[in-house]
Amino acid sequence: MPRLAARTGRAKPSAIMVIADTARQLKAEGKDVVNFSIGVPNFLPGDHVYAAVREWMPRDSGGYGSNRGAPALLDAIVAHFKDSGLDGYTRANVTVGIGAKQVLYNLCEALLDEGDEIVFPSPYWTSYVDIAEILGAKVTILPCPPEQRYKLTPAQLDKALQSNPKVFLFNNPSNPTGMVYSRDEVKALADVLVKHPNTWIITDDIYNRLVFDGIGYHNVVQFRPELRERTFIMDSLSKTYGMPGWRVGFVAGPEAGVKALVTLNSNHITCLPEITEAAAFAALTGPQDIPATKCEELSKRRDEVVNALVSIPGVKCPRPQGAFYAFPDISVAFGKSHNGKPIENDIDFCKALLEDKFVATVPGSAFGEPRSLRISYTCAPAQLQKGLDRIKQFFAELSGEEVQRARAVGA
Ligand SMILES: Cc1ncc(COP(=O)(O)O)c(C=O)c1O
Repeated sequence: MPRLAARTGRAKPSAIMVIADTARQLKAEGKDVVNFSIGVPNFLPGDHVYAAVREWMPRDSGGYGSNRGAPALLDAIVAHFKDSGLDGYTRANVTVGIGAKQVLYNLCEALLDEGDEIVFPSPYWTSYVDIAEILGAKVTILPCPPEQRYKLTPAQLDKALQSNPKVFLFNNPSNPTGMVYSRDEVKALADVLVKHPNTWIITDDIYNRLVFDGIGYHNVVQFRPELRERTFIMDSLSKTYGMPGWRVGFVAGPEAGVKALVTLNSNHITCLPEITEAAAFAALTGPQDIPATKCEELSKRRDEVVNALVSIPGVKCPRPQGAFYAFPDISVAFGKSHNGKPIENDIDFCKALLEDKFVATVPGSAFGEPRSLRISYTCAPAQLQKGLDRIKQFFAELSGEEVQRARAVGA
């Protein structure tokens, strides 16, 4: 048999999907599973989006559309960026993709040759590593542990950029930590970035409408406009408009760079389906109350989750200020056991929690931080408290002695 291309071996199956599959299997067996593992919003787009789709159907051409995106949608995207405080972009600065994931893939393809360096902080969204590795880029990770609230410092960034990496990738608000960089923190990073003109910047801002506590959403180009010529800002309808399955992502950036993305689109996807573009247009131009209301609701859930987690002795949870994730440091459990199962690391912990308490979470090592785990708190309201109670109970049932016993008998 001829061999597969080497790049296929570099792509790893997502750890999140493995947990989700086990959770689904337990559910199918009739177990009462609380699913904190998948990062999907708990709401659908408003009726106006579905109405727009119905209205579009009789007019659908059934043909190919623009590689860049339908002109009306591009205008809506430009207006959306403006509404997010990112003024001055035109149709020539934006394009679409099949979700932010495909936009990111295009960006990495456009910016990185094999062996080029891409730098980003950890914890990171899992696909950052996978996409870079499929493309044969060199990945440099900047560890941002819980002690620094999972945030990158200007000094760390400055040091990392000394080697002139090709790309710096920055996610704010963050998946998996829910951390949001304040105005001053973003400004301080922008001040460092201007000193390193040989590095492209990608900002993954897809959770930008889900920011709590009045902290606001900020981007480096707002503080240092000279960064615009080498910054690409990614956004998507997946998380903020309740439309992950519609697969609409978009990006704003320098004209020549975006043109390259359009050329890649013409070879990868040709275009978004017309009907999807009609839905996206309706979401972006219609009533904006859904993201705002959901943001309010999610901030209350955040309180519930963080209060429960920090009430567990030894668990630390830097307070998230956006998205819908909490990322507690659960390393206090390492070296203990549950129901005779030794817990040596985050993977043992998540496995035992799922098998013994039917709560699905994602091990932090999937995101580059093996001391933590990710809780996505968009489940049904009744499930939330139940899941948190089970986690508390799990911790209360941990035993130190059993591990030693298990080790002594070589288990
Ligand atoms: C940080 C981050 N970026 C990008 C994506 C991809 O989003 P999309 O559904 O628009 O492809 C996700 C999805 O989980 C994400 O969490």
